[in-house]
Amino acid sequence: MKNIKTTTLKIDPLKIDQKVLKFAGELIRKGDLVAFPTETVYGLGANALNKKAVVKIFKAKERPYCDPLIVHISCFKELEKLVDKIPEIAQKLGNHFWPGPLTMIMKKSKIVPDQVTSGLDTVAIRVPNHPIALGLIREANRPIAAPSANRFTYTSPTKASHVIDDLQGKVHLILDGGSTEVGVESTVLDITSFPLKVLRLGGTTVEEIRELVPDIIIPNDQGPMLRSPGLMKKHYSPRAKLILPEGVGQNMIDNILKVAREYTESGYRVGIISSSDNAIKYKDFFVKTIGDSQNLESCAHNLYAQMRSLDELKFDIIISENFKKRGIGRAIMDRLFRASTKDD
Ligand code: TXA
Ligand code: MG
Repeated sequence: MKNIKTTTLKIDPLKIDQKVLKFAGELIRKGDLVAFPTETVYGLGANALNKKAVVKIFKAKERPYCDPLIVHISCFKELEKLVDKIPEIAQKLGNHFWPGPLTMIMKKSKIVPDQVTSGLDTVAIRVPNHPIALGLIREANRPIAAPSANRFTYTSPTKASHVIDDLQGKVHLILDGGSTEVGVESTVLDITSFPLKVLRLGGTTVEEIRELVPDIIIPNDQGPMLRSPGLMKKHYSPRAKLILPEGVGQNMIDNILKVAREYTESGYRVGIISSSDNAIKYKDFFVKTIGDSQNLESCAHNLYAQMRSLDELKFDIIISENFKKRGIGRAIMDRLFRASTKDD
């Protein structure tokens, strides 16, 4: 793909410059690509109702066409024309979780192009909880199809600088609204049949969904059992090889130290991803901390940025601690597991 000129504009989410949003909205209507922050990760957006614009997303990311996109809307009402019929359960979940990191899969209406859904008869939809994302959708006056704004299979961007690193020359405009809050992607929930199925663990926790709908199916602990189309095991990956030792407490620490020593002795450059509470235990090695192990939200917030910074520092091996599989910890462990897995 020929390179295009990328403009990056700073925009303060707490004091939005409407001129910038208006300009971005015009670009979307024109069929251009605009990267923007959401509460989860940065998205690479295009007019969801314009086939040609949507195709540009796949080209920019080098993403296979079999991997469908999420359509972002600014309020529940905008769902009406995108789906065949609004399921009752969508109303219930939407009232509770939107705007927020929950994507629902529903039967699509005719106006959603096949390019968005990879030919499926269902469409993934969410209302993001971020003033810039919501403002952009309103200014564009169109639903916006947006995957995460990274190169395909690479770690999702949580800062504008990550988007620049991956997509400079491939996107017309990047709206730099600072770091994203949640740090991992939205939860993808298939609501086309009962029991509802979680296809991807994410920012809305299984525990939160179960409070509203007790009977849901979730991916099993050994890795993803249910797969979204196009959701490869090898995903969310840094360039370095990522190793995720097992064990809890001192046992996990001992396992990590053993692997770190072995690779170091063999001449590899090793970086460790640790909770702040355990960092001191790895003092002989290069450590990036992601947050207190009891505060899984802060760990999710920092995870991708720290993976990327270890990559920038050209480490060969990243060894990560494991985290509690509860709340958002399930999404953290899912991403670490996928990043540590090779499909081939
Ligand atoms: O937090 C997020 O969800 C971010 C921000 C930008 O909103 N977006 C994001 O998009 O992570 P992406 O394209 O990286 O992931 C979309 C996921 C994929 O796993 C895809 O397979 C799934 O949603 N998906 C999309 N449409 C689907 C459908 N019709 N049926 C099943 N899964 C679908
Ligand atoms: Mg993605």
